[in-house]
Amino acid sequence: MLEMQTQSVPVDRALASPRSLRSMRNEGARIAVEFDDGTAGRLSMRWLRLVCECETCGDTASGKRWLAPADVPADVRAASIEISSRETMDVVWQDGHVSRFAAGFLAAHAGQAGDRGAPRFQPALWNSDLSARLGCFAFDAVVEDDEALFQSLRALRDHGIAMLTGVPAEPEATLRVAGRYGLVRETSYGKVFDLISRPDARVAGETARAQIPHTDEPFRYSPPGFIFFHAIRTGAGSGGTSLMVDGFQVAALMRRNTPHLFDRLSRHGVTFHREHAGEVFFSAEAHVISLDASGAVTGMRFNDRCLAPQAGAVEEIDGLIEALAELTRLICDPANQFQHQLQPGEVLVFDNQRVLHGRTEFDPTLAVRHLRSCNLDRDGVHSAFRTLARRFAPEEAEAVLYQGAIF
Ligand SMILES: [Fe+2]
Repeated sequence: MLEMQTQSVPVDRALASPRSLRSMRNEGARIAVEFDDGTAGRLSMRWLRLVCECETCGDTASGKRWLAPADVPADVRAASIEISSRETMDVVWQDGHVSRFAAGFLAAHAGQAGDRGAPRFQPALWNSDLSARLGCFAFDAVVEDDEALFQSLRALRDHGIAMLTGVPAEPEATLRVAGRYGLVRETSYGKVFDLISRPDARVAGETARAQIPHTDEPFRYSPPGFIFFHAIRTGAGSGGTSLMVDGFQVAALMRRNTPHLFDRLSRHGVTFHREHAGEVFFSAEAHVISLDASGAVTGMRFNDRCLAPQAGAVEEIDGLIEALAELTRLICDPANQFQHQLQPGEVLVFDNQRVLHGRTEFDPTLAVRHLRSCNLDRDGVHSAFRTLARRFAPEEAEAVLYQGAIF
């Protein structure tokens, strides 16, 4: 008689999809499962053996994992399978190992391990219509209430941008609210960076000139993830209007209207650079539009002011410049821009690998413009979202999110 090992049913994943098993059928290399709500699907035996998370096999979420893919024979088969309760299924493998699976876990994966890929999150695209849909959240709420924080993280996931209001002007307040979303990344400018218009500007952000919407620091291998723009002082009425563009929306337009130009930006490397002599010299070659394994847009990096002289064959370079020019036309088109005059106490939070930010020029003699900025690592913000989703919306916790400008 086989001794039943202590099993760890993936409880969180089961919760995401509480369903009961109606029947199952061992088909050798596959198992067919049917649930009480009428849904059904197939799972590969090889997949099923590899996802066992009993004490012997270990647990992939913590990384204390002892079963490796090479340990699962290609022809692995179940000696017996039974529904031990309506919520769990027990499998005894031919080598005597025993696995137990929660019905909800099986339901969440049935079909995917066979025919379809993992469910991918579909971002909500926007253009100048964002004002009607922009998520706005009060400083006090996101600092004190996890559910309000979760709602703002959800807005960031959906639109790549959200607004915080009533944020006090002290640097500690900026750091306190940003710290709720993830680790603040320390850069060569420090943890928080004051962008104040001044005549001896070191970076373009400190001048009063207009800026074409862009992503920040595309010359880094891993550009800043989320950016916080905290308005401390603004010259209302004197220009300096923020121009925000959904890079995914613009990429979708390009893909539809000029697919050959879209292909160039998603397949050819573009080099961005930044050098302050004797101090730093960053240079990165990457795709302006990043695609994931399924071909969906997953990130964007573009800043016209950091484009290095491109290297390559003459025709290729001309084609690339044509594609960059078309992209610039699209991001400068007011129909694709959410325009907003920031007020003191407002913070715009945005995904720097999706949303491009720019501004109109302003008159520096009429008002000093003071924005405070800090950067967060992108995966940390998505981690905060998933962690809170386990509590407030378990069914949303495991979708594959768009992973940024990674290629
Ligand atoms: Fe910028």
